[in-house]
Amino acid sequence: MATLPTAVKIVEVGPRDGLQNEKEFVPTAVKIELIDRLSKAGFPNIEAASFVSPKWVPQMADGAEVMASVARREGAIYSVLTPNMRGFEGALAAHADEIVIFGAASEAFSQKNINCSIAESIDRFAPVAEAAKAAGVCIRGSVSCSFGCPYQGEVPVASVVDVVQRFAALGCDEIDIADTIGVGTAKRVHEVFDAVTKAFPRERLSGHFHDTYGQALANIYAALEEGIAIFHASVAGLGGCPYAKGATGNVATEDVLYLMNGLGIHTGIDLDQVVEAGDFISKAIGRANVSRAGKALLAKKQNASACS
Ligand code: HMG
Ligand code: MG
Repeated sequence: MATLPTAVKIVEVGPRDGLQNEKEFVPTAVKIELIDRLSKAGFPNIEAASFVSPKWVPQMADGAEVMASVARREGAIYSVLTPNMRGFEGALAAHADEIVIFGAASEAFSQKNINCSIAESIDRFAPVAEAAKAAGVCIRGSVSCSFGCPYQGEVPVASVVDVVQRFAALGCDEIDIADTIGVGTAKRVHEVFDAVTKAFPRERLSGHFHDTYGQALANIYAALEEGIAIFHASVAGLGGCPYAKGATGNVATEDVLYLMNGLGIHTGIDLDQVVEAGDFISKAIGRANVSRAGKALLAKKQNASACS
């Protein structure tokens, strides 16, 4: 058995990746309460908002208000997405701790998501990265469609490595290898991480898995075997991508924490509080909670209180 990391960083992306796809506008107060609950649960990093065009993603239009009102836990990192300088200026004004530039390993997805080619996106990110460095803000690069694209289909491993190299050259502190539409399987995860770890330090790479085909936990385990120790997850399994039709949410945070707890891998996060946060947001937006562990733990708690 491969030696697994003894501790991992779980980045909670529910408030951004999870909510961005909701059709009905989620009230700002609900977004804030969700983030506050997640902060209390102990997440070291929460992706809280996007500073993107509200014409493209209307759900994220209240990012400045959200960032201004959340009760930040000392030491925790609050990240926001920034596709261009306009977004970066918003992020800076909102005192974001980390900005996320988001590109793709697929030309077709790059066009659909950010309306430009991969090369153009890198040109657009360059001043953002430079400004973030100058302002002392951390930079994360997200590589969408690293395991497949809804428009192009197959994505060669070399295309993923190419974007990772370009993000590394821009000075990214962390790079996310994202399975936007959840098509990856464990064998491919080994192949992709084996390749990208040759281009960027393993300890600063993360796995961002959507769970469309139910493979996310297996993929996380494969990435753990590759020594990856940063994973993204979304409470209650919220989400989907507005530019990847049919893709479901990120892997549910409760399920990832249950796995890590079972493996004895330290996260520093209180699973019970995450389960409560998952119940809160599912009820608040009238959406089914798709976390298996979350639902099981809620049912166990209800049974216990019914019997006492
Ligand atoms: P564009 O239409 O080519 O650019 O969009 P534009 O410069 O012509 O701007 C269009 C309008 O948006 C203009 O307004 C701009 O001012 C405004 P108008 O003049 O028409 O009134 N605008 C902005 N407003 C607020 N903040 C900004 C901003 N920029 C322009 N930052 C653009 C190009 C990149 C802006 C657009 O395509 C965009 O915002 N895309 C974002 C798409 C997005 O957020 N997708 C979801 C996140 S990525 C994701 O989920 C994947 C990830 O989870 C990893 C994975 O799973 O793969 C990260
Ligand atoms: Mg995503």
